[in-house]
Amino acid sequence: MTPALTVLGSTNMDLVAYVAAAPRRGETVAGREFRTVPGGKGANQAVAAARAGGAVTMIGAVGEDDFGLRLRFALRESGVQTSGLRTVAGPSGTAHIVVDDDGGNAIVVVPGANAALTALTAEDEARIAASGALLLQLEVPMEGVIAGARAARAHGVTTVLTPAPARPLPPELLALTDLLVPNEHEAETLTGHSDPHRAAAALLDQVPAVVITLGASGSLYAARSTEPFVVPALRVAAVDTTAAGDTFVGALAVAAGEGRPMHEAMAWASAASALSVQRPGASASMPTRAEIDELYARNN
Ligand code: RIB
Repeated sequence: MTPALTVLGSTNMDLVAYVAAAPRRGETVAGREFRTVPGGKGANQAVAAARAGGAVTMIGAVGEDDFGLRLRFALRESGVQTSGLRTVAGPSGTAHIVVDDDGGNAIVVVPGANAALTALTAEDEARIAASGALLLQLEVPMEGVIAGARAARAHGVTTVLTPAPARPLPPELLALTDLLVPNEHEAETLTGHSDPHRAAAALLDQVPAVVITLGASGSLYAARSTEPFVVPALRVAAVDTTAAGDTFVGALAVAAGEGRPMHEAMAWASAASALSVQRPGASASMPTRAEIDELYARNN
């Protein structure tokens, strides 16, 4: 059965400069290329999940500008339902990104329209209630994130929280989270532990299950009910790691929603991220279900 997913989160236009090495403070460097590509952690997860085979609805906000039109169009083009995407006065969110020759990045996010997402409408609540899972991140106001998580819990919908950009989380949000998916730096911000196994153990005091993404080292699953395990990443040459985590979460939510065991869902999501880091851009880099299936089959 096709998993029904709702994403509540940000849409940004990513303004990306490709450089050999990112400038240090006070330094100017020559870039090789510039692109404007649709991004935002929320929209990225929505596109990743839709391309991976989910039936995805987006709750978010774009501005009354050309970027807003392009962001809405890009979501629709990937098959994401956008009736929950408001258009609000002012500019759309933007992300100012420098990608270096190792595929690493540094990002400044200016929220723009995303700051308007402070509450749910009755229609938003109905969208969440009709889903199997709600995907949340932290690029929209915390009031909006908590409102979404409350609605999900009230309707028995699984909440999947990516705690990015990293920041301390209110206890209420943790109590409403079913699956937390931080990267290792976010896990350290939340727990003070740089060792992902220790971080995962500490997080299980607050949430029932955690997947910590470890970049090239794969991903670690820990839950109260089972022994932790690591799923290795596929070895690929990265050209742009922007949105690799979002791709992983979107694909993971689809695979888990199909009832696949967590180990298999993580390996399949890892194949999705491996494909995305080999292409430039955020949502533009995300693979289709057929591409994920093909890479997964070759490696498992
Ligand atoms: O997670 C990647 C995303 O973070 C980029 O697309 C950018 O918009 C920032 O929000």
